[in-house]
Amino acid sequence: MKTRLTELLNIEYPVIQASMAWITDAVLAAAVSEAGGLGTIGPNAGFKTVTSDVHETGERLREQIRKCKSLTDKPFAVNYVVGVPGWDREYSDRCIEVGIEEGAPVAVVSQGSPLVYTRRLKESGIRIIQVCSTVRHAVKSEEAGVDAVIVSGTEGGGHSGFDQLTTLCLVPQAVDAIELPVVAGGGIVDARGMMAALALGAEGVYMGTRFMATRECPAHDNVKQALLEATDTSTIALRHGSSVPARNDEAVDRGFVEERRGSVRLIYTDFLKRIMADSAGGVPAYEALAAGRDGEAKSDSYRTVAAFVEGKVQENTITASQASGLIRDVPTCAELIERLVRDASPIVERLEGMV
Ligand SMILES: Cc1cc2nc3c(=O)[nH]c(=O)nc-3n(C[C@H](O)[C@H](O)[C@H](O)COP(=O)(O)O)c2cc1C
Repeated sequence: MKTRLTELLNIEYPVIQASMAWITDAVLAAAVSEAGGLGTIGPNAGFKTVTSDVHETGERLREQIRKCKSLTDKPFAVNYVVGVPGWDREYSDRCIEVGIEEGAPVAVVSQGSPLVYTRRLKESGIRIIQVCSTVRHAVKSEEAGVDAVIVSGTEGGGHSGFDQLTTLCLVPQAVDAIELPVVAGGGIVDARGMMAALALGAEGVYMGTRFMATRECPAHDNVKQALLEATDTSTIALRHGSSVPARNDEAVDRGFVEERRGSVRLIYTDFLKRIMADSAGGVPAYEALAAGRDGEAKSDSYRTVAAFVEGKVQENTITASQASGLIRDVPTCAELIERLVRDASPIVERLEGMV
């Protein structure tokens, strides 16, 4: 398959494995790249413990980049989460430094302004793909000089933009607004989703949850099982970050992330139902979640490790796609990508027969 994205990244298929904190490690990223897509190493991937040491975080990333290079000579990406100025940004700054030092060829930059890292990455010869959740952010990214834009709809797992735009509506509007290749993310798990995204004008797809249910993904089996059991109504989007006004352009320009004022899509487990019932009418559910049921505050990272690494899915939250109900097996990355490509042709033939 050939699009401007495959040309830009020198990959065979227009399929990018999305970054998922803790669970998109060098092994997964290399498997995707070897299969002809673009693998992405995510924040903290490959490790099982939370660290608040900025230097250690950077060295962990260095180890993963080197490991990925030892497993494939194909291009791969590293996800840099821009985050908010201060403590959060120190981590991102260190990861950017390490990524540049190690020559990680592609940067997927998310959750923040494209003005923060674009120039530095560009000067280092790194291809930059910016993750956006609105057309405004996509335009701003193009102006900042990135090479391609991922627009990700609210169907997707993880944090999504505060405007709750769906992939179906966001992709064509972004395609109309910018010249750069647009990559569609959010709710894409099979060839139907991929071809629909291409029909909307996208030149590639960005798939997270589907790659969680692959053999190479280090996510705990309990998490993969939860995906296999999911139905159409298994996820909900929980609003959070309510302390920041929903539309504060000044905040956006200062680098605050849209996602923080947005929502996070989670599997609607019994645990989450209890949290939501407990917090009804009082503290917003997401804040109640952060406080922990026993009153002991737990950061996102601790809860993510508990669920995704240790498999404690009954007492923690699992973020996943609205399309999880379409996931019915746990193939290898190569099988998954081969299936995406193989299933694409009958879709084209079927559509050709209609017009
Ligand atoms: C478990 C999980 C963890 C995620 N972690 C991150 C992350 O660390 N950084 C990021 O930019 N996006 C993160 N995301 C969002 C994905 O990169 C991507 O936008 C989303 O998965 C696409 O939608 P899909 O899940 O329907 O494929 C995460 C998503 C999931 C499901």
